[in-house]
Amino acid sequence: MCGIVGYVGKQNAVPVLISGLQSLEYRGYDSAGVAVLEENSIGIRKTKGKVDNLRNLLLNEPVSGNIGIGHTRWATHGAPSDMNAHPHFSNDDSIAVVHNGIIENYQELKDELEKKGYEFYSETDTETVAHLIHYFYKQGNDLLEAVRKTLERIEGSYALGVLCTDYPDQLIAARKESPLIVGLGKGENFIASDIPAILNYTKDAYILGDKELAVIKSDDVKLYDIKGNEIEREVYTYKWDVEAAQKNGYEHFMLKEIYEQPKVVKDNLSKRFSEDGKSIELDGIKLGKKELENINQIYIVACGTAYYAGLIGKYLLERIVRIPVNADVASEFRYKDPLIDEKTLVMVISQSGETADTHSALKLAKSKGARVLGVVNAVGSSIARDADDVLYTLAGFEIAVASTKAFSAQVVAMYLITLHIAQELGKIDEKEFAEIKKAMDNLPSQINDILNKAVLKIRGFVDKYIESKNVFYIGRGLDYVVGMEGSLKLKEIAYLHSEPYAAGELKHGPIALIEEATLVVGVVTQEALFDKTKSNIKEVKARGAKVLAIAMEGNSSIEDVADDVIYIPRTHWMLTSLLANIPQQLFAYYMALGLGEDIDKPRNLAKSVTVE
Ligand code: M6R
Repeated sequence: MCGIVGYVGKQNAVPVLISGLQSLEYRGYDSAGVAVLEENSIGIRKTKGKVDNLRNLLLNEPVSGNIGIGHTRWATHGAPSDMNAHPHFSNDDSIAVVHNGIIENYQELKDELEKKGYEFYSETDTETVAHLIHYFYKQGNDLLEAVRKTLERIEGSYALGVLCTDYPDQLIAARKESPLIVGLGKGENFIASDIPAILNYTKDAYILGDKELAVIKSDDVKLYDIKGNEIEREVYTYKWDVEAAQKNGYEHFMLKEIYEQPKVVKDNLSKRFSEDGKSIELDGIKLGKKELENINQIYIVACGTAYYAGLIGKYLLERIVRIPVNADVASEFRYKDPLIDEKTLVMVISQSGETADTHSALKLAKSKGARVLGVVNAVGSSIARDADDVLYTLAGFEIAVASTKAFSAQVVAMYLITLHIAQELGKIDEKEFAEIKKAMDNLPSQINDILNKAVLKIRGFVDKYIESKNVFYIGRGLDYVVGMEGSLKLKEIAYLHSEPYAAGELKHGPIALIEEATLVVGVVTQEALFDKTKSNIKEVKARGAKVLAIAMEGNSSIEDVADDVIYIPRTHWMLTSLLANIPQQLFAYYMALGLGEDIDKPRNLAKSVTVE
C-alpha cells in the first residue's frame, strides 16, 4: 500500500529515488521521504504530501550519497504527517527503515522497547522495526542477523529497506506478503515495490519470496531465507519498456490506459485460441474434462473492480455452463467459513496480485482443499505464485488508481474461461463457439470505434450532468453488473455519490430517491431484457430523472425515454459488458476532469491494497 525504492551504486541516489518514488505514487501519496547515507551519517528528508513536496524540500535542504532508500506512503498507523512519513530511524540515527505493510504486534513490541529505554516519536508501527533492529544490532554487531531476528519477532506483513551507518556499502531488504523486487544493474543495484520504479535502469530483477532477505551492494546481491541460509534465485527479466510507465502525451494515465484497451483485448485474444480457432488455450492450465468433471461448484473471489469482472464470469458460467457459481468480495469470503472443499474451483481475480484480502482468501481456499485458479495481471506477484494455476491477463502496467484496461482484460479472461469450461464439458456446440469467436475477434475494433465516437458525445454532454449529486446506474443481468463497475469508477475519481441497482429492484425501495434531475445511467445492452429495462427507465423518467442510456446499435427506440444515448456496436449478448463499460469509463473520466479532481491519484485511495 506504500511504495519503496532503494539504490546502491555510483550515482547520486537522490534523483534515482525521487524518480522511482514518482513512478510508485500510485501505491500511496500522502507523504514521502528518503534516507541517504552521507559521510558518516544518514540524511533523512521527509514530508507530508506528494513526492513533489519532497522534491521541493530536497531543493532547499539537499542530501547526497550513493546509497539510499525512499518511501511514498498510504497511511495506516498514524495520520499523514511529516513525523509519520518514512523513513523511520533508531534513536541514535544510525539505522533507517522504510516499510510497506502492517506490523500487527507493534503495540506489544513498542511496550517492550519502551521498557528498554527506546523513545518513539511517530504514531507508526514501522518505528518499532527501526528500534528492534537497533536493539538486536547492539547485541551482536551483525546487521543481517539483527534484521533477521527482528523479522522473527514481527507479526504481520512487510517489505523493508534498511540502511545502517556502520555498513556504508550496502542496504538490506526483506519481504513477507508485501511485494519487493531487487533490481539488478551494472555496478548498481536497486530495490523496489514494483518494476516501474527502476525501469529506467534495469529490467532484470530477483523477485523476493515471503520471509526472504537480500543484502544488496553495488556489485553483489545475496539472498537469504529467514533462517539465514543463502538461497539461489533465477533472474526474472521484465518485458515491459519505459514508455509503458509513462503518459506518452496523454493528460492522465487513466486516459492512456482507456485508449490501450483495443490492444490489450487483442493481445489477450490472439494468444488464447488454438491455431484453427476451434478451442481455447489457457497458458497450459490443466483444467481439462477430467479435472472439471470433478468440480461441483465454482467460487469467484476478488475485490473492487476485479470482483465486478468476477460477477460477469458468474453470470456467464451459470448461464452457459450451468454450474453453480458463488461470488464474494474477498474481505467477506475470508471470514465467513465458506462452503468449499476439494470439489470446488476457486477463481481469484486480481490486477496487482498483491491485494491482501484476495491473497488471504486464496490461502483459505487452498487450506480447504479447493483448487485455486488465479486470474492475475502482475507477473510473479504473490497471488500468481500461490495459485495452483494462473491465467495472466496481459494488460501491461496499469498505473492509474482507477482500473480500466485491467478490468477489460479480466472480462476477456472470464469469456475465455467460460468458453473453455463449456467446451470441455460439452455445453457449447461448434457452431455457437464459432459464432462467439467471430464476435470476439471484432471486439478490439469495436472498442476503437466506441472510443472514437463516444468521446465526442460524452465531452459534449458532460456539462449537462456535472452538477449531479447522486447518480444511479440501473440495468438487468449483465447490464446490472457492468453498471456496478461504472458506478464505482464515478465514485472513485469524480467523488460523486453513485449506486448501482438491478433495474427491477428499483420499485422495492430505491425509486424513492429519484427526484427532479437525478441522473440515472441506464445500461440496456441485453436485448432479451431491453423492454423490461426500458420500462424501468420510463418509471424513473416519470419521476423527474435525467437519463443517460447505453444501448446496442439498432435499439434506437431507447431514444423515446432517454435524454442522451451512447450506442455500442452490435455484438453477441455475452460480450456486451466489455463494450458497454468503455463509455462508462469515459463518462467517469470526463466528469472527474470537469470537476477538477486528481484523476490518477484520487483521495484516500491507493492502487494496490496490501493491507487488510
Ligand atoms: O489489484 P486488485 O485487482 O486485486 O485490486 C482490487 C481493487 O482494489 C481494485 O480493483 C480497485 O477497486 C480499483 N481501484 C478500482 O478501480
